[in-house]
Parts: sequence; structure tokens; C-alpha cells
Amino acid sequence: MSKNTNKNLRCVIQKSGRLNEASINLLRNCGVQVELSSRKLKTGCNGFPMEFLFVRDDDIPSYVENGAADIGIVGENVVVEENKDIEIIQRLGFSKCRLSIAVPRDFDYRGVEDLQNKTIATSYPHVVEQFLSENNVDCTVSTINGSVEIAPNIELADVICDLVSTGSTLVANGLKEVQVILNSEAVLVARKDLDIGKERLLDDFLFRVQSYLRIKGYRYVMLNAPTESIESIKDLLPGIKSPTVMPLSMYGWSAVQAVIKENIFWKIVDDLKKLGAEDILLLPIEKMVL
Ligand code: PRP
Ligand code: ZN
Repeated sequence: MSKNTNKNLRCVIQKSGRLNEASINLLRNCGVQVELSSRKLKTGCNGFPMEFLFVRDDDIPSYVENGAADIGIVGENVVVEENKDIEIIQRLGFSKCRLSIAVPRDFDYRGVEDLQNKTIATSYPHVVEQFLSENNVDCTVSTINGSVEIAPNIELADVICDLVSTGSTLVANGLKEVQVILNSEAVLVARKDLDIGKERLLDDFLFRVQSYLRIKGYRYVMLNAPTESIESIKDLLPGIKSPTVMPLSMYGWSAVQAVIKENIFWKIVDDLKKLGAEDILLLPIEKMVL
């Protein structure tokens, strides 16, 4: 197939499903507003010279490999299963899940050897075949494209291998997870032979993505504290280089501002209060360019 010669960076994303919404959110957080329309499978956007194709997620690696698209956002599980000649250029940290073997609740599973001569239903035949052959287990792989968890209940298979996120689908279908074979998250993929113009666009886009990923878990904290406590507060709030400390017009008091990891906020807030800190604010960060 001939490669797209469009000047815009062409990105392929999932048409519908969990990854679709998460991909559009990531793009929005990178200043790219994707034009959304329920039926149009190719749209533009505001905020970046980019255009979008919407396809089934299993097809995303092929679109990128054959050049119909320049980049794509897809689960690593699909990239591994499809095994196309494309590059993973950035792990995206969302849609985390695992590809796991699950068995009926009363199946006494002790190890891979218990799969010998069984039938396993999965939407990931290549990954599963490889796992079985690495472990020298003879097991029939039956490929199903969705609702894999139903298979043991209707005697279509003895066990399954499918994606697990919260685990509630397994529980609801009387199954238990016994072995993780792949940990996965959303990734940004690119084709290998981008021309110089597209390469430059991809660098600009990647810069935005990386800036966003960097600030994701961070917040901006502002507080007032007695000036005598500032040295101890600095130890709790090291900030990026160091916290900003400014005198208040009220004698003996200072304002402190710093970037912190959100998950440490609740761990240090009591200590900050013990040091006399008051008026503590925690704010989201819109952008951070270091
Ligand atoms: C996915 C996956 C599992 C389920 C896992 O299915 O294939 O079935 O989600 O999520 P959980 O552990 O949080 O319950 P999806 O809803 O995409 O449907 P499909 O497999 O039929 O496409
Ligand atoms: Zn499923």
C-alpha cells in the first residue's frame, strides 16, 4: 500500500472502546482537540497539524506498518500479538492491564504443566502459543474475538487467556486469574521510515506528550508559615530546584510554594501543620516545561 503523503501527522486511534476515550483525553491534555463525529472515520483536529483515523484496535499496528498512518495509540498487548514492524516510541501510563490465564474457580491450578492437553480460549493466539511453547506444554488454542470469559461455562474451552483490569469480569464468570503472561499499557507507536517533515512533527508532538506525562502526578502547593519554620518546611517540600519562599506583609510570616507529587501530599500535611503552616492550597498544574 502506498504511504500517505499528507503533510499532517496522521494518527490512528481506536474507534470505540476503553482506549478511544483515554486516547482522546491524552490528546486533549497535549493541546490537541480531536474533531469527534460518531460516523466519520477520518477527522482533523485543532491545536496541531494532525489528522485522525478511527479503526478497530487490532488493526492499528497494520495501519502504522503499511504507512496508512504515521503514528498510533494502542495497547501494548495488541502490538505484541500483531508483531508488526513498527516502533514503540513512548509508553503512556494509562489503560494498564495484564494478559492472564484464568481457570474455573474449582480448578486446582499448580503451574503451567496443568494446562497439558487442555483447550485454552483467547483473543491472543500468538502470545499464548509462544508462552505454551516456551513452557513445553501441549495445549489446544482456540481463538475467540470477544467475550472470552464465557468459554469455560459453555464447555468451549477448559481455561482462558484474556485481559484483566479490575478482575470483575473473571469473578462474574466464575473464573480465577492464575498466571500473568504479559503486563500491558497504552503505547505510542510510529512507522519506521517517516520523512524528515513528519519526523519533526512527531518530535514536537512527543515533547508535548512527555511534558504531560511528567506533570501528571504532580500538584502545586501553596501555604503560609511562620518564617522560623521555613528551613524545616523546605525539607518536606524540596520542589523541583527549591521551593519559592516570599515574605508576607505580616511580620514573621512567609509564603511557600512548591511542586510536589500528589501522592505525598497527605503524608506530609500533618507535619506541615505541626510546623505552623496555615492556608494550605493544592492546585493542579496546567503545563510544565523544564
Ligand atoms: C475487556 C477484556 C476483559 C475485561 C477485563 O473486555 O477482554 O474481558 O475487559 O476487564 P476487568 O478485569 O476490569 O473486568 P471488553 O469489555 O473490552 O470486551 P471484549 O473482550 O468482549 O471486547
Ligand atoms: Zn473481554
